[in-house]
Amino acid sequence: MSTWTPSSWRDFPIKQQPNYKDTEAVKRIEAQLAAFPPLIFAEEARSLQEKLAEVTRGDAFLLQGGDCAESFNAFNADTIKNLFKVIMQMSVVMTYGSGKPVVKVGRIAGQFAKPRSSDTEAKGDVELPSYRGDIVNDADFDAAAREPKPEKLVQAYYQSAATLNLLRAFARGGMADLTKVHTWNLDFVKDKALGRRYEELAEKITQAMEFIKACGITPENTPQLHETVLYTSHEALLLGYEEALTRIDSLTGDWYDCSAHMLWIGDRTRDLDGAHVEFFRGIKNPVGVKVGPSMKEDELIALIDRINPDNIPGRLTLIVRMGADKVGELFPPLLRRVKAEGKEVIWSCDPMHGNTFKTDNGFKTREFNNILAEVKRFFQIHQAEGTVAGGLHLEMTGEDVTECTGSQSCNITVDALGNRYHTQCDPRLNANQALEMAFTVSEFFKDPNKQ
Ligand code: PEP
Ligand code: CO
Repeated sequence: MSTWTPSSWRDFPIKQQPNYKDTEAVKRIEAQLAAFPPLIFAEEARSLQEKLAEVTRGDAFLLQGGDCAESFNAFNADTIKNLFKVIMQMSVVMTYGSGKPVVKVGRIAGQFAKPRSSDTEAKGDVELPSYRGDIVNDADFDAAAREPKPEKLVQAYYQSAATLNLLRAFARGGMADLTKVHTWNLDFVKDKALGRRYEELAEKITQAMEFIKACGITPENTPQLHETVLYTSHEALLLGYEEALTRIDSLTGDWYDCSAHMLWIGDRTRDLDGAHVEFFRGIKNPVGVKVGPSMKEDELIALIDRINPDNIPGRLTLIVRMGADKVGELFPPLLRRVKAEGKEVIWSCDPMHGNTFKTDNGFKTREFNNILAEVKRFFQIHQAEGTVAGGLHLEMTGEDVTECTGSQSCNITVDALGNRYHTQCDPRLNANQALEMAFTVSEFFKDPNKQ
């Protein structure tokens, strides 16, 4: 293999990049970003990797979730806070159900750039460049909006920094305190049966907290009861941006992509000989790769060897996104082969991206039952193979949106999708649907074949 550098990816074929008109401006802005402070500290990425090593062994569970694409317009404290609260709720529900700690990773503070199925979008006679996320261009369908603008890279950096700042404040400053589990229940969840189910669990936790407080263990003397860590992650699609934030760690001398704790490669850019795989093989962060229906066994093994040649547990998460109707057929052969070759990986289930469809009234949506069916199959397959169902990767929000149909808690119909359809890109689970998912998944830990 040739020598890796943060820019060696530039010698490889690359997919899914914007076509900037002003390439000099891109260079100038990348140089500016390269001089900005990193967003994370390498030691944090290492501590995430250690926790992910526990997930590999089946001693912890990975919950990764957030927007499909973060938006510049919907950037405010409430959406960040509500996502934080739902992730905390899901995490206690799943910890209670599984008896395992939940490693929390947000698709947040950098999840802006989107791969698209087509480079252009046509409406009538007009054909424009596709929307590629707020870090690249604007979603409105007009030529000026769709023009890629290099200065948006800087705005994405600042928004990521501000978002991460607030997340750190919530995580460390008391919002995650286990004596406050009741306050995580969002108003629009509270008045549903689901909200009451959560309240019952919160009451049990509160009683346990009172008991251990009487024994002398309190949030004041035990930091684990008072604070948490929510790690950040995004798809590292725009490699110019990622390169600019890739720095040498002064403690180890290793390279870390300091734009987020964890990065992943999307299903469309995971070519073995492409630029993205080249970039990923050199960064020391824990990383993910999406595994979609076209993945072949040999290809997967070659990818694992390229990205994690030393077979380090926690380094590599395979995020399986086959679709409810395909996972049962396509996933077991890959799983068996990886197991037979003794590869240390985390298997995480993305039940969103293989289950997207368009309704007659023009909405891109996902049906809750299909999402749930894929997760259930994923757990059943692992149980049958004696392997570990390590994680769940969701597109979700803490807001009361109507983007995915179905679920017991809100039963969103196709006709209701237009009521609060706010996503920048793919449809997300709303807070009720996400919490309902957590309760159901916590049953799968015990027996995925029941119900
Ligand atoms: C995504 O996670 O938003 C995404 C585009 O996924 P995939 O690469 O699996 O299609
Ligand atoms: Co998506």
